[in-house]
Amino acid sequence: MQLYLDTANVGEIREAAAWGILSGVTTNPTLIAKEKGVDFKAVITEIAELVDGPISAEAISLDGEGMVKEGREFATWHPNVIVKVPCTTEGLKAVYQLARDGIRTNVTLIFNAAQALMAARAGAFVVSPFIGRVDDTGVDGMQLIREISQIYKSDAEIKTRILAASIRHPRHVIDCALAGADIATCPFKVLQQAMRHPLTDRGIEQFLADWKARG
Ligand code: E4P
Repeated sequence: MQLYLDTANVGEIREAAAWGILSGVTTNPTLIAKEKGVDFKAVITEIAELVDGPISAEAISLDGEGMVKEGREFATWHPNVIVKVPCTTEGLKAVYQLARDGIRTNVTLIFNAAQALMAARAGAFVVSPFIGRVDDTGVDGMQLIREISQIYKSDAEIKTRILAASIRHPRHVIDCALAGADIATCPFKVLQQAMRHPLTDRGIEQFLADWKARG
């Protein structure tokens, strides 16, 4: 399973890229808005220079035509830009048209496996099921990944990849990998948490103490 960073913060992206683990980046309007005053095009192109992999930029139009117009514009910014569109029937129209233009899409805000099937049929490059937000409703979000994975695997025509989103903690990362996600897009904090373990820290302390005390 590949790891993407779910942020528009260039400092976080630069740091995680230096760890050698990043295969792409996802953004959304909320994440862009968090980076006060940044220019959308400028930040997406900067990210694309830092990470050699798909960079999702989200359209804000609600109609298919508008999404296609935005998507065609985003695609001129950098060859690695992927156009993110919401999982609506208008979104499907945009996915279908953009695929015919050779532009890759990420269908976002997926909350059931039928949406994922329809997005794949329309020609989505990736789909983003929102695990954490499903968990928030009291339903097991990971079941969504299992169902989509099974459906996609049973249909040789489907090449769409599963990008698990709304990841809240390291256990989500592990379970996504086990459930069949191709990619998990994680907040920077989750990647940091995943690398921390008290026994690792204690082991380092012990090794250093023994090294200093050697005869
Ligand atoms: C995915 O592409 C989204 O940007 C993101 O994972 C949403 O996560 P949230 O539910 O924590 O906002």
